Amino acid sequence: MTLGSRGLIFDEFLKRACPERELDWRKYRRASRRNVLSRIHQLGLGGFSEFADYLDANPVEAAFLPNVLRVTVSRFFREKELWDHLTGKILPAMAAANVDRPLKVLHIGCCNGEEPYSLALLWKHEIEPAFQGAGIAITALDIDKACLDRARRGWYPRKALREVPRELQKKWFEPEADGYRLHEEIRSMVNFRKFDLLKDDLPREMDIIFCRYLVFTYFHGQRRRKFARSIAESINPGGLLILGQKESVSPQEEDLLASMHQSLKLYRPVSHIKGNL
Ligand SMILES: C[S@@+](CC[C@H](N)C(=O)[O-])C[C@H]1O[C@@H](n2cnc3c(N)ncnc32)[C@H](O)[C@@H]1O
Repeated sequence: MTLGSRGLIFDEFLKRACPERELDWRKYRRASRRNVLSRIHQLGLGGFSEFADYLDANPVEAAFLPNVLRVTVSRFFREKELWDHLTGKILPAMAAANVDRPLKVLHIGCCNGEEPYSLALLWKHEIEPAFQGAGIAITALDIDKACLDRARRGWYPRKALREVPRELQKKWFEPEADGYRLHEEIRSMVNFRKFDLLKDDLPREMDIIFCRYLVFTYFHGQRRRKFARSIAESINPGGLLILGQKESVSPQEEDLLASMHQSLKLYRPVSHIKGNL
């Protein structure tokens, strides 16, 4: 007998457990199912139904649910149009406007480092040579220690490099143990830190915040609005928030974050736009 067949199947479990915790049940799939099964096993429970009852009776476990469900999937240069726009427009403009200090960039939910390292590679390859003296300080946050360990090591299997331009692969990745290791010069550009969005305060005064496929995918309602507000408050005037292409700011958050591009998911805090008028 599988755990699913003892009562609720996984989708039914999600439909029951997620909405009242302001989580979007439709976004969780196979990877989360494995995590939930492992948590059920740890707790010595019989299946999804029992776990749903357990959550109802245990507020501490219920508060922990987003962490049990979390999805750790990422890719280098995920959504190429964004990276083209960053290289062609945004980074040159920001580098030119901030000659006296490094740009401050934050990645919330950085997974195994693919996203912050994509930025570091572009900066090193395209921006640094064109803007002598331009600097960047990249901070990358994640709750998952195993992800952070992998990110710091900077080793990836060959298939992870599929979307990395050939030129960058050749220059910055060394073959190592059946895969490739990112060069120390790029690894040292990113400061990885353990961070729980549900507990810790976001660092402030950022020029760019990447928050892709976390808050605006999995969270709902007041939980999500609270993060939208703290993200908006953490962005410098002239700075921006970058979401994933499949994400959007919802109508309930439009008083906090305004779209600044027709097709890419780039946003600016509304308070900055008003301040500029
Ligand atoms: C789906 S991945 C997205 C990775 C990357 N941003 C991208 O778009 O390719 C979501 C990441 O958020 C992290 N995460 C989930 N809950 C978190 C929390 N409460 N605090 C910090 N990071 C969290 C997960 O560990 C995972 O690495």
